[in-house]
Amino acid sequence: MNGITSITDKDRIFTNVYGFQSPGLKEAQARGDWDDTKALLKRDPDAIIEEVKDSGLRGRGGAGFPTGVKWGFMPKQPTPGRPNFLVINADESEPGSCKDREIIRHDPHKLVEGALISSFAMRARAAYIYIRGEYIAEAAAMQRAIDEAYEAGLIGKNACGSGYDFDLFLHRGAGAYICGEETAMLESLEGKKGQPRLKPPFPAGAGLYGCPTTVNNVESIAVVPTILRRGAAWFKSFGRENNHGTKLFQISGHVEKPCVVEEAMSIPFRELIEKHCGGITGGWDNLLAVIPGGSSVPLVPAKDIMDCPMDFDGLKEQGSGLGTAAVIVMDKSTDIVKAISRISYFYKHESCGQCTPCREGTGWMWRTMEKLVEGDADIGAIDRLYDVTKQVEGHTICALGDAAAWPIQGLIRHFRPELERRIAEHGDEERAAAE
Ligand SMILES: Cc1cc2nc3c(=O)[nH]c(=O)nc-3n(C[C@H](O)[C@H](O)[C@H](O)COP(=O)(O)O)c2cc1C
Ligand code: SF4
Repeated sequence: MNGITSITDKDRIFTNVYGFQSPGLKEAQARGDWDDTKALLKRDPDAIIEEVKDSGLRGRGGAGFPTGVKWGFMPKQPTPGRPNFLVINADESEPGSCKDREIIRHDPHKLVEGALISSFAMRARAAYIYIRGEYIAEAAAMQRAIDEAYEAGLIGKNACGSGYDFDLFLHRGAGAYICGEETAMLESLEGKKGQPRLKPPFPAGAGLYGCPTTVNNVESIAVVPTILRRGAAWFKSFGRENNHGTKLFQISGHVEKPCVVEEAMSIPFRELIEKHCGGITGGWDNLLAVIPGGSSVPLVPAKDIMDCPMDFDGLKEQGSGLGTAAVIVMDKSTDIVKAISRISYFYKHESCGQCTPCREGTGWMWRTMEKLVEGDADIGAIDRLYDVTKQVEGHTICALGDAAAWPIQGLIRHFRPELERRIAEHGDEERAAAE
């Protein structure tokens, strides 16, 4: 069943995402947050999990795993001494992604209330928000909202007068991208070096301090109170089958007005850009390619993205992904090889170094990309590079290896003639210089 693919103001969950109003508790309550939360906490925890499942919410942190299904993996009766935990991922370090910080800066009570209700559903004793180190003002805003909620009795002992005791902690990271990977985040929270763990065991079995843990993205948790208030069917009415809800899109690059905007899932790319960004710089004929989900997903060339539904399945069909919905638009002024090379450098820099294919491969791929920027390579380098991306992809502990491989694969798939042109041109120049 296909649902609504374009929303109006009344459908928006994040009504203060631009910070036109105060993020404070009183104003948040006036916007509908904390409205009879006690009644929500009277519901059966399993019924809340079922409602989140029914809403079709898929994780907003990148992989799109169904949120309610993930919650269902948590033990229903925690063993004494081994409490359940919720960890909220506010690391947001993927180039292009900048939505969680808008929630935290301007609508933080949505996250505090979401943390309470989600933890209640999962029988968690406490939740931790892990926020990236560079988010200094955001961490202060988040802490203010947490303090306000404690002072008002909304969280803490007997939260909202419900009888449920719940603590919420804010933990600041130190700025490593890899700490956004859920098991590296758990290591870092435990005070160790942030390096991904081998799975299994998965966090729901043995997570934070060896206890059952669910890791969810900020946006996944912040939408939960509204889903419960308006109902699963309401959330499900947006987007195509299997791709439901509203979503914060973050559009950057060569558009007239870059922005973060809440829209319906599955909105076609062209409509998203026309409705909110004032079009492509220089007009639609000037569009070169789009990286639709943050820097880790393969680019999609202009002709293929124009009418593409912006959702998990639509972008998968294009050989890419929705990721975090960080839409990076590139017009024809872009040096596409250089752009992808810069992304390769980022992944090389952020590799934690545990696995050989990632540690060695990311550096090798970046160095080859730098040569291809100048065309300073033989024609076989393109296939060799592709081959190496395939040796890295799927052969590492965490998905950073894939994230380093995919942008290069996308470039080779769609811009091979451009790479060949540079190699040929460089060869001509060398021959001319030799003569
Ligand atoms: C290298 C790497 C970095 C990641 N960074 C983030 C991040 O900054 N924020 C985030 O929510 N998820 C990030 N993830 C995904 C998390 O591991 C995890 O899947 C996510 O937080 C789950 O939340 P969700 O189910 O609500 O989407 C990253 C994954 C990898 C492999
Ligand atoms: S894939 Fe890279 S970042 Fe992930 S664990 Fe291995 S070396 Fe570390």
